[in-house]
Amino acid sequence: MPRLDPHSFFDADQPRTQHLDLDVTVDFDRKRVTGQVMLVLDKPASGPLDLDAKGLVIASARTATGRPIPCERGPEEPILGSRLRLQLPAGSERVIISYETGPEATGLQWLAPEQTAGRRHPFLFTQFQPIHARTMIPCQDTPIVRATYHAAVTMPESLTAVMSAGPLSASGASQRGTRTMLFEMPQPVPSYLIALAVGDLTSRDLSPRSRVWAEPATVDAAAYEFAGIEEMIRAAERMFGPYEWDRYDMLVLPPSFPYGGMENPRMTFLTPTVLAGDRSLVDVVAHEMAHSWTGNLVTNATMDHFWLNEGFTVWAERRILEALHGEEAAALGWAIGQTALEESLARFPAGSPYTLLRTDLAGVDPDDVYSSIPYEKGARFVVTLERAVGRERFDRWLRRYLDRFRFTSITTEEFAAFLEAELPGVAARVDADAWLHRPGMPAGAPVFRSSRLEVLSGLARDWNSGVRPAQEEALRWTANELLLYLQHLPRPLDEGSLRWLDALFHLTRQGNHELLVEWLTIAAASDYAEVFPRLREVLKTVGRMKYLRPLYGALGATARTRQLAREIFAEAAPGYHALSRRVVESVMETYHD
Ligand code: BES
Ligand code: ZN
Repeated sequence: MPRLDPHSFFDADQPRTQHLDLDVTVDFDRKRVTGQVMLVLDKPASGPLDLDAKGLVIASARTATGRPIPCERGPEEPILGSRLRLQLPAGSERVIISYETGPEATGLQWLAPEQTAGRRHPFLFTQFQPIHARTMIPCQDTPIVRATYHAAVTMPESLTAVMSAGPLSASGASQRGTRTMLFEMPQPVPSYLIALAVGDLTSRDLSPRSRVWAEPATVDAAAYEFAGIEEMIRAAERMFGPYEWDRYDMLVLPPSFPYGGMENPRMTFLTPTVLAGDRSLVDVVAHEMAHSWTGNLVTNATMDHFWLNEGFTVWAERRILEALHGEEAAALGWAIGQTALEESLARFPAGSPYTLLRTDLAGVDPDDVYSSIPYEKGARFVVTLERAVGRERFDRWLRRYLDRFRFTSITTEEFAAFLEAELPGVAARVDADAWLHRPGMPAGAPVFRSSRLEVLSGLARDWNSGVRPAQEEALRWTANELLLYLQHLPRPLDEGSLRWLDALFHLTRQGNHELLVEWLTIAAASDYAEVFPRLREVLKTVGRMKYLRPLYGALGATARTRQLAREIFAEAAPGYHALSRRVVESVMETYHD
């Protein structure tokens, strides 16, 4: 019984799901998804079939002809959930499981109307990566298994559903007051890429193959922000090959969405905090789009190989930015990533196994060790390979890599074997072993600097010696330049300094959340009461973990700010996603009092 994925009960000796047919009702009153899933196996089988399930209430399991299938539920484990073992009668090719979700399904977030932009309708969204699909669907919840899917989703008639799939025409026959929408995903995807959102949604077309979905109140801002999407797809296609997923649509979620973006195929999910109003945060879209090649086409086999998804994608994202906005813009992206990398390395003790690229997360909750390391260390490894062989040869290698492993899920070892076969000797030359299997950064790892970065970080670091940027010049900085400057300012700062900065850059009213949050972090760490109302507002609406971590972290500075943090958290917590809540709790555990 080989268990190949430490985060799944999937057994490689058993048949694999090849197609999944979901028929569910979204019940906003009870906050439950109820219905059934049919799993179509890759061959007729008999005997045990082990599925992942977490918190699900299973009503029945039966064959396509209605014969009951005996099933046995293992103990509920905190990270994995429980093993649902079906005993298949001989010749079973399809199993139908009727069930409903549990009260604490971490893959779902149910929003009250007040948590949406329109404030009139409830909202539901899923976030299944890394291992939350099992809280909505009993399935082989491992990226080793890929399946096509079909879904019928029934919801209140005033709402609209989108999925990581293509829409089929809405089916007519529904009960009064409800409607059913149909979806079809013809390309095989791992379970973590199944996604659903239901709310008061509308859309704007951006190009023949791309549209953006959002609540009516946000959709025009979203259409403006992402108007350049077609150009971006084309830039990516020139480098990585044809876009394979037919449409590239996006959904802008309510602000409690815990990530910046999620690369759900055909329907990238995005935080509304990317709607800066000036297109300055489209790097998040470049990132999620790049996953269409690195991650969705070639997928990490398990979370131990997560860097294959994220390291390649950060690298690809910066190549897209370079193609669209030039080398200097890409260099700033790398420089901003450098700060994130250093912060993540500092979060773990020296020598921590969580700083390896190839990890061993058996017994560890991947959400607990999520950090920028697989992203930024991973991307630096990829760029090291690129530099070792030159861009042209590397790009040709990448095309072969994508071609060889398309629609499959692979391990670091398979990647390494392919690298060695196709670019012999390069792994040894760059000491790939140190990159993949040793903690921290290898000696000689590229450290990204740019002349702009030198100037900006120098200016910032000398703040305490009275150095100030020339005002007219500073007001011409791009958003990323200003961000780098703020990142390098010493903290805490005194009140006069904070006042000066806010007067010059209008930081408290920033629409760009990267800038706003960096500013609020400085201000929180400096116990600057002037910004507390804005800080409270942000913490009470925005659930993006990337922002909650530094903000609550900075509020650890003084007894007064710790008190403020606890007060805000008590009010905000019911509106946070379960994951966001957990992150904040872990940050507040480090408060010393
Ligand atoms: N796939 C990730 C988000 C993710 C990773 C969710 C692991 C759950 C578990 C997504 O592509 C991502 O990396 N998002 C970043 C965007 C950034 C790197 C531009 C984010 O949310 O901040
Ligand atoms: Zn990513």
